[in-house]
Amino acid sequence: MPSKRVRYPFQVLALCLSAWGLAWAGPPAEKDKAPDAASIRRGKYLATIGVCEACHTPPAVPAVPGGGDPDRERLFRMDPDWVRYLDPQRQLAGGVPFILRLSGTTHGLVVTPNLTPDVETGLGSWTEDEIVEVLRTARRKDGRVLFTFPPHSFYNHMALEDARSLARYLKSLPPIRNPIQPRTLPFEPQPMVADGPARAPQGRTRERATYLMGALVGCRECHSHHENGTLVEFAGGSPSDPFQGSFRLGPDLPLRQLEKGFAAFPYPGFAVLYGSNLTVLGHGGALERVPTERIVRAIRQGIDVREDEYGRPRPIAHVMMWQFYKDMADVDALALADYLKTLTPVANPVGVRLKLFGTDWEAAFQQTYGEPPTPEDRAAFGMP
Ligand code: HEC
Ligand code: HEC
Repeated sequence: MPSKRVRYPFQVLALCLSAWGLAWAGPPAEKDKAPDAASIRRGKYLATIGVCEACHTPPAVPAVPGGGDPDRERLFRMDPDWVRYLDPQRQLAGGVPFILRLSGTTHGLVVTPNLTPDVETGLGSWTEDEIVEVLRTARRKDGRVLFTFPPHSFYNHMALEDARSLARYLKSLPPIRNPIQPRTLPFEPQPMVADGPARAPQGRTRERATYLMGALVGCRECHSHHENGTLVEFAGGSPSDPFQGSFRLGPDLPLRQLEKGFAAFPYPGFAVLYGSNLTVLGHGGALERVPTERIVRAIRQGIDVREDEYGRPRPIAHVMMWQFYKDMADVDALALADYLKTLTPVANPVGVRLKLFGTDWEAAFQQTYGEPPTPEDRAAFGMP
């Protein structure tokens, strides 16, 4: 059985505050009922801070390399704000491929499904209950089980009302026809057991922060690493663990049908970026005195809690998806920041945030996986 550990795999490129606390109205199976506007609004909010579009909306770059405007393509690869290049014409219409390296000889390919209510190529024939089920258990209505990596891998903890709101929001989208290439996987994934509460905790509370990070947003997955098999939470990435807290950047994103790639985030050259150590913001940490508002600013505006050497605000890298978090409600952002301030500092020897490899794909690969690419890897990632 191949390892299913896969790093937070945001690919490509990637609202509105909902009326929190509005009760979820009504029993299940209301597919004939008038849509519940408040529930849809909440679903839209959850979809935004849950960054669904980062994976389920393809970028507007040509399907064939060199087939479109070269300036736009160059900008897409170099602009830190990659979310701006997501295609508004294909919002949540899927089609973003993820190459999975399960081992040096085992690879898979999963492509994000079309979440719009198109009957033939999307979720048009799915009921709300069926969408709730696939979100919380990974089991599709045809019985097939999704391959889950973060954040899908923890949606089983999602509150029923939140899953239902997401389903309603998806059903309210304009249908877009977009046929999706089938996945290839060398094994059958297992379903998850849904164990989320009926309703999500609310307010600027520790319960709310724990819920959001346990059931919807991947703060922990991106900001932690393993040491001797144990998860060191929020201590940032580790160069010896490619599976959490480090991210592959590169020019050869697997965004297009004719091109496969190793990188998960766009960048002109190959690089590996490490998630920051957030425990330094906790009690007794080096940044304990950073005001909560600064942490909220980092989350919602992508500005580092520290100034640069000239005292200017320093933008953080495009891996942290503040473009979606910018719409996070005050109470949620504050609940998360409060939580970070309670962490116990953990020393993480990672000195550099970003390791640059220029055009050296093999070195970046080795850094990420701890071993050089095999011939099978080369074939899977389309490298000579
Ligand atoms: C990191 C990328 C990623 C993010 C973020 C993400 N998804 Fe997915 N999602 C996938 C992939 C990949 C699949 C397909 C897996 C497979 O085919 O085995 C999928 C499958 C699904 C499916 C199943 C549809 C079907 O036809 O099988 C639904 C529904 C879904 N996602 C909803 C969401 C929602 C709602 C969000 C945000 C709250 C979200 N996803 C966030 C990658 C992502
Ligand atoms: C997809 C991965 C990813 C996710 C999800 C993510 N982060 Fe980050 N975050 C990063 C990376 C990488 C950095 C460092 C960027 C840099 O150094 O330029 C960062 C930086 C930060 C910073 C700034 C740290 C500093 O030193 O100023 C804060 C605060 C933060 N993240 C909190 C969060 C919280 C809270 C969440 C959940 C809502 C979250 N992050 C989700 C990857 C992620």
